[in-house]
Amino acid sequence: MYAVKMRDPKTYEIRSSGCQMNAYDGDRMAELLETHGLQAAPEGETADLVLLNSCHIREKAAEKVYSEIGRLVAGGQKPMIAVAGCVAQAEGAEISRRAPAVDIVVGPQAYHLLPELLAKAKSGEAAVDTTMPRISKFASLPGRSRRAPSAFLTVQEGCDKFCTYCVVPYTRGAELSRPFEAIVDEAQALVDRGARELTLLGQNVNAWSGEEQGVRRGLGGLIRRLALLPGLDRIRYTTSHPADMSDDLIDAHVEVDKLMPFLHLPVQSGSDRILKAMNRGHTASSYMRLIDRVRAARADMAISGDFIVGFPGESDGDFEATLRLVETVGYAQAFSFKYSPRPGTPAAERNDPVEAPVMDERLQRLQALIRSQQLAFNQASVGRRTSILVDRPGRKPKQKIGKSPWLQSVHLETEADKGDLIEVEIVSAGPNSVAGVEIGVGRDAAKLRSAA
Ligand code: 5AD
Ligand code: SF4
Repeated sequence: MYAVKMRDPKTYEIRSSGCQMNAYDGDRMAELLETHGLQAAPEGETADLVLLNSCHIREKAAEKVYSEIGRLVAGGQKPMIAVAGCVAQAEGAEISRRAPAVDIVVGPQAYHLLPELLAKAKSGEAAVDTTMPRISKFASLPGRSRRAPSAFLTVQEGCDKFCTYCVVPYTRGAELSRPFEAIVDEAQALVDRGARELTLLGQNVNAWSGEEQGVRRGLGGLIRRLALLPGLDRIRYTTSHPADMSDDLIDAHVEVDKLMPFLHLPVQSGSDRILKAMNRGHTASSYMRLIDRVRAARADMAISGDFIVGFPGESDGDFEATLRLVETVGYAQAFSFKYSPRPGTPAAERNDPVEAPVMDERLQRLQALIRSQQLAFNQASVGRRTSILVDRPGRKPKQKIGKSPWLQSVHLETEADKGDLIEVEIVSAGPNSVAGVEIGVGRDAAKLRSAA
């Protein structure tokens, strides 16, 4: 049993797992807690309030939250514990029954109510909110205060695609686009605080739609508007669905210099039979035709993907089709996962699972192929001169790590600081990163930004 319950938290810590949208939500919750008088706990100290911003996408991710709670409880005086994110949404009050040490449960669409929930928890009341009053969340959050050279900005949330394996339509709700002006305002606030790169986020980001002064716009239109912001150098967006990849968005890649040549476009499988069972709404060949169109518009586009191996009923032939698709596309990077049955999804009802050793072997083969493609992509960039946005220190003194336009991690020695855009030549390559040398100062390598 744990010791005294923390009742009046002064410091907080947010631990976000899962996707970039969780990282974004984590920042917004931190900003909210700070406007209510809490401070980030100093490094190495247990905070009075620990908020676990959880992921429900696969079983392993979802279980992580319970092991973290266990560790927090075992560690002497128990902090106040809040569970946020998609596990909170999926399991709701069930979490406090399974883990009574949890004081607050708040879903991804209700976290603007965190201060009220905190007040309830302080007085010992049950503090659970997993309602989905979605647009009011953004409208009632405080303005952006975090400083960072590279920032996330959620423009769209939720998913109407209902892939049969996926929990997102249930945990994040229906597709909803934030209004054009609200996004431009938030982008401006982030740029004012030192952001030079914005990554627009959405579960189906390319399904974003809105109106600019009464004129209908898609994501391409939004990007064109954001590109006008002085001080903003790079725009990215993720994650896209093949069904929503419009010509207008592809054209934006030709017209907008600030839009980076990188496209994360998950396909999941190369077998039409499996794609159909997954309810993906596209075939392997329609996906490959789409990639051809994208590359015809921008030959240097880096393509990234997600794959699931061992979906129920996946045969050797289906898996071979996935390998063939990967070989045809040639990925700059890709993520691959073993299928994990998620409660409440249609695929979890199926009784034709792929055996664990078969799944393991398929994952290994796919990952080996992807790794060789990543290496090939990185090797092909050796000799290229390009700009990188410095984003963190490397292991050795003077060593820094930055991002190329194609999202490669570039290691180099430089005096430049986090937030500087500098010119480099790529000189060598590995499967996960490349090495570069600085070839002169970029547009403004001076330490303009104080984003620490
Ligand atoms: N099992 C395994 N992987 C999954 N993903 C989504 N749901 C599951 C699941 N049930 C993967 C998909 C998706 C990525 C975010 O996670 O590849 O694109
Ligand atoms: Fe995890 Fe998906 Fe939720 Fe992101 S949206 S936190 S990946 S379950």
